[in-house]
Amino acid sequence: MRSRQFAYMLTVLVGLALATTVARADKHQPTEGQPLLLEDHMGEMNRALRRLKRLLADPEKTEESLVLVATIQQHALPAKAMVPTMAQDVEPAKRKAFVTAYRRQMIGLVQALLTLEDQLLSGQGQLALETYGNIRRIQKEGHHSFRKKEE
Ligand code: HEM
Repeated sequence: MRSRQFAYMLTVLVGLALATTVARADKHQPTEGQPLLLEDHMGEMNRALRRLKRLLADPEKTEESLVLVATIQQHALPAKAMVPTMAQDVEPAKRKAFVTAYRRQMIGLVQALLTLEDQLLSGQGQLALETYGNIRRIQKEGHHSFRKKEE
């Protein structure tokens, strides 16, 4: 009886693990050979930023942190020049201003990423952590203003 319960629990756990993996895999999967979309660049930035959080607090991991910061910068730059999907829903007369506002917010993100790089290079770990928080705030504001709400 016990072994049946154990087998049942194991099946549930493996099922949950698989479902999580599939749910994670369904987004940000750029099609091979196709140019990256805005959402692909965002997904790549997200992946690197999450890993960065764990490394930033460790002064031994500065080199690894710098590689991740460079990865985020490399996705932020092309993303800055793109047009958010939500622009389609903005009335034509206001669309240009909407895209400009998006771009300026992305410039703020790139500036914060360069500041973070500078702080890491000069060993200012505490300031780097604060800049990380600032980047998360810029992300939150950017999503609030420019990312289409899920329907
Ligand atoms: C490092 C900071 C940021 C991270 C980690 C991040 C992450 C993400 C993620 C994970 C998505 C969902 C992608 C998907 O659906 O597959 C997304 C979408 C999006 N993000 Fe960001 N984001 C950041 C900063 C920003 C900023 C500053 C803005 C605006 C200025 C912005 C605007 C958007 C928009 C518009 C979308 C929807 C994509 C579309 O319209 O096609 N994000 N972001």
